[in-house]
This record gives sequence, C-alpha cells and structure tokens, in this order.
Amino acid sequence: MRVCVVGSGGREHALAQVLARTADEVVVAPGNAGIPGSTSADPVEIDADLFVIGPEQPLVDGLADRLRARGHLVFGPGADGARLEGSKRWMKEVLDDAGVRSARHGSFTEVEPARAFLASLAPPWVVKTDGLAAGKGVLVTDDLDEASADVADKLSGTAFGEAGRTVIIEEGLMGPELSVLAVCDGTTAVALAPAQDHKRLLDGDRGPNTGGMGAFSPVPSAPPPLVDAVMDKAVLPTLAALRRRGIDYRGVLYAGLMLTDEGPTVLEFNVRFGDPEAQVVLPRLDTDLVALLAEAATGRLRTTPVFADDAAVTVVCATEGYPLAPRPGDPIEGLEEARAVEGISVHAAGVAAGADGALVTAGGRVLDVTAVAPTLAQARDRAYRAVAHLSWPGLQHRSDIAEGAASAAGAATGGSSPFWPQETAGNQDGVRPEQERGEG
Ligand code: AMP
Ligand code: GLY
Repeated sequence: MRVCVVGSGGREHALAQVLARTADEVVVAPGNAGIPGSTSADPVEIDADLFVIGPEQPLVDGLADRLRARGHLVFGPGADGARLEGSKRWMKEVLDDAGVRSARHGSFTEVEPARAFLASLAPPWVVKTDGLAAGKGVLVTDDLDEASADVADKLSGTAFGEAGRTVIIEEGLMGPELSVLAVCDGTTAVALAPAQDHKRLLDGDRGPNTGGMGAFSPVPSAPPPLVDAVMDKAVLPTLAALRRRGIDYRGVLYAGLMLTDEGPTVLEFNVRFGDPEAQVVLPRLDTDLVALLAEAATGRLRTTPVFADDAAVTVVCATEGYPLAPRPGDPIEGLEEARAVEGISVHAAGVAAGADGALVTAGGRVLDVTAVAPTLAQARDRAYRAVAHLSWPGLQHRSDIAEGAASAAGAATGGSSPFWPQETAGNQDGVRPEQERGEG
C-alpha cells in the first residue's frame, strides 16, 4: 500500500516511521526537512491507497471529506465529527448527551454571566476558548482576577479571534493526566496503549501550558481495567452519541482524562493522535498499523492492537522563547550522535533546511527524542543520554519526563482511586455488553 500522512510535526514523523514497517511507500504532506518522504504536493493531488490525517485543523476544515469525495480511503473524521475538537461547547453537549462524566462547566458569550459563574466555583479556575487555539486557549489559574481578565480578553476577540467569542468555564480538577487514544471505525473502537503527556513547560509541572513537553507509555497508574473503563464509560458512549447524530466517525478518538481522587474525569476529546503521545504509543505497537488504520477507514475494524511489553519515553526539545515567542533559525547540532544512542528515534517536529542544507530550528517544539527500552527507567535514561548530544542556542527541555512513573513502575500499580466514579456507573450507550467493573 502507498500511504500518505498529512501534517508536518513529530507526530507525523512517528506515524510515517511506524507505517513504513509494512507500507510499500509512505509520503508525508507537507512533512518537513527532517522527515523522509516529505512532499510539497497538495494532499488532494496525491495518489495514495490510504490517507492518515495528523493535525486537527485540516480535519476541522473538512480535508477528510474532500479526500473521500474523490474516492480515497481516509483515516480521520469528516468535518462533522471533527467538530468535537473544533468546538468545546459542542463537545460538552455531546458528552452530556452520552452520559460521560466531565468537569462541571458553563459556556458564555457575555462577560458578566461568565464572571458570576467563575465566582461560584472554587479554585483553580479554568477558562477555555470554544474554538481551536493551537493548544494555547486554556488558562488554569489560582488567581480569580487573572481568570476574570482572561474571560474579557477571550470574549473581546483580541486574544484568540473568533475562537474566543465563546468561552467555556470549568471547575478545576487535580491529578495526573492520562491520554487514551482509541481507533474508531464509525461503530466500534479499540484502545491503543495509554500514555501520559507532560503539558507544562517546566520541571515539576510549573510554567505555562504547552502542546506537550514529553510523554511516556505504558502508564503504571493506568492498568488495563482502567483503560477498559475509559472505553466503556467515555469512548464508546461518545461514539454512539455521534452515530445518533448521523456521524460516521472513522479516526482516532483521543480521551484526555484527569485521574482525580474520585476516579477518571474527561477533560476533552481530541479527534486525532496526540502529539507527543503518538511518539510513545506507536513504536510499541506489535500489530500492523497500516492494516489497523485501513480497517478502521473502511468501517470494518477486526484487529485488536497488541503492544510490546516494553516502554517508550519522549523528551521534547524546544526553542528559546517557546511557547510564547519561539525563535527560529538556530542551527541544530548533534543529531547524528543522538540518533546513534541505542533504542533512539529522533522525530523532527519544527525544523527547516538552513542555507547550507543542514537543519535549523523552525518551530516551538523542534525535535522529539524517543527512546524504547525494556523498562520506563531504562527508556528515560536512554532518552536523556541522547538529548545530551543535541544543542542549539537556548534549547529547552524538561528533565523530569516520566520520572515519577519510572520509579513507581517497579512498585504495585493501580493506586487507590476507583476505575470509574460510582455515581456515573452505567451509561445507556455503550456498544459493548455491560462488563464487571474492575476492583480499585
Ligand atoms: P484541554 O485542551 O481541554 O485538554 O486543556 C488543556 C490542558 O489544560 C489539559 O491537558 C490540562 O492540563 C489543563 N486543563 C484543562 N481542563 C482542566 C480542568 N478542568 N482542570 C484542570 N486542568 C485542566
Ligand atoms: N499532547 C496533547 C495533544 O496532542 O493535544
């Protein structure tokens, strides 16, 4: 099969790499100077047997629909399903209809009622743009004045344009995050191995939110019964709710969860692979990814993905100034040495070819260093050995990716929180037969 991956970041590099294990040829449109098989051709002009669309924006813009209209096989939802990520307000409506537990919330287009709702909630306060904001539309703060000012900023249209003309205000939740990515064929879905992303810029989960500074898989605090519960109580009911709306959703449903003391709570659904979650989940896949995605794209998912009993850790290396003002054009050193470390792939995210053809920085997140090893601790060690070879002026990376999990991985897993909160047990819409809930 000839496969075309649409997108230009580290996620697409990882997708292309794993698809290339079994595809005859993989092209990446547009890709970047560091991804083999990159092409500047417009995806709709490309001839491929399967299209895999990476980022949310082209999905929201209907690229999957345009490709399907030309008779192509596409893994990725149409604009109707992608609205789940394109409008957080609509996502909340679908979740409420599906009976999926999510944070208490309200949506507003006027400042005063929004502020009144804020004042009724306990800290931390969470203010989100309804529309897409390239991962920058969410404020989580312990300062009510800051939240209140952010509401006015977003609604005025100055900060985020149309995307901010409606805001979602949410109760703040605490706990580690979990990403469960499910491959959907319109009717049913299978879970990929869970991953955890580190969203904040700085060690110790401090600093601003970013697109993700690193990730790891597996997640010791998310054993298989917890992932099953996420499928049964969140992903499958959401897929069923989409179906009831006439939406034939073929692509990834990515449940972003917070593991609170009361159990997992959905923060959001994304309509694509996570970045950098894909970088740690896909290399661990023992199943043929081309066949799996082609089955889902055809509406006939039969394969249950199997994952190797190993671990992957990705450390993101970003430019100076990321996420507020990333600086482009710095020469990248040490790439070959980093790639020579055992078990390492370096995925090219924000790079371009400089004047002499060598790679230079060209985006906030520049390179994703992914290590695969028998354990999380070994993968972490390999990843940081490779990162130590890389340099450019102002390179930023976190030094605590997977740190807690790597030391917890040797201990008993599971924690004390329930796999799903008691009060929301029993959704009407699960496609699977009712299953026994796992013991906490
Ligand atoms: P979202 O785009 O909705 O996933 O939000 C981006 C990030 O903001 C999440 O990954 C969390 O780190 C944080 N976040 C979102 N919603 C909440 C919430 N209700 N409570 C605490 N943090 C949140
Ligand atoms: N890693 C978070 C995201 O892909 O949205």
